[in-house]
Amino acid sequence: MTPPAALVIGANGGIGRALVGELLPHYQVVAISRTAIDLEHPRLQCLEGGSTEEDIEQLLQQLAHLQGRITRVVICIGVLHQSEPHPMMPEKRLEDVNIQQLMHSAHVNTILPALWVAKLLPLAKGSQPCVMAVLSARVGSIGDNRLGGWYSYRSSKAALNMFLKTAAIEYSRRANNVKLLAFHPGTTDTDLSKPFQANVPRDKLFTPAFVARQLIGIMDGLSADGELSYLDWQGQPIVW
Ligand SMILES: NC(=O)c1ccc[n+]([C@@H]2O[C@H](COP(=O)([O-])OP(=O)(O)OC[C@H]3O[C@@H](n4cnc5c(N)ncnc54)[C@H](OP(=O)(O)O)[C@@H]3O)[C@@H](O)[C@H]2O)c1
Repeated sequence: MTPPAALVIGANGGIGRALVGELLPHYQVVAISRTAIDLEHPRLQCLEGGSTEEDIEQLLQQLAHLQGRITRVVICIGVLHQSEPHPMMPEKRLEDVNIQQLMHSAHVNTILPALWVAKLLPLAKGSQPCVMAVLSARVGSIGDNRLGGWYSYRSSKAALNMFLKTAAIEYSRRANNVKLLAFHPGTTDTDLSKPFQANVPRDKLFTPAFVARQLIGIMDGLSADGELSYLDWQGQPIVW
């Protein structure tokens, strides 16, 4: 029997790669990344690209044969800091806020995932239940913001959450087999969190494989209810 299909976008990141590994025993996996993925498996299809709107549309055309078979989608795209092409670190104070960082964070954390969610509707729609998870972050919660700082990252994730909430309303009308999830993985040992791990207790710094298994388990327990869920790695709801 043909296994159900799972799509991992941002598959060369720490969490993305772990998800591909954890999904492969049970799914036919399509892994999408800007760079080549160093992994071979009979059930794995790797596609490169996804940096522009046209690129996303082209990739989706290549996946047309999976219409009605996709039961899991995980969008793992995100940026918190970088050294190139322009260095950026999370802002500590208002004086650190600048247009490049605000725009780049919005581009990677909000706009690219939003384009994927918008353009995936025809492919995900069908009679099969499908769970579409997007990696958000607890710091995107407005209600939970007690420490401040990290202006670009926080605001781009909050905007992502609002986009997803709005999309969930439309998906419930047009593709009611799809459940949307905004997911907080907890602090996970990847390049994204490397500069911020010093003060994280060892038992609160998760391996990507652990987080991938938690997310897969949480997705297995969800069914399409027309709502966006905003859950952490334990499956606990996060205040908006
Ligand atoms: N690690 C944590 O502690 C933590 C905590 C809370 C939330 N998160 C969220 O979890 C998600 C995955 O993060 P991670 O920890 O796995 O980080 P990561 O290893 O840095 O992976 C992030 C991935 O995002 C994609 N990406 C980055 N910049 C991009 C750009 N300019 N254009 C297109 N894609 C870009 C890349 O995917 P490709 O290389 O495959 O193209 C990259 O590998 C992110 O959304 C992050 O915000 C992580």
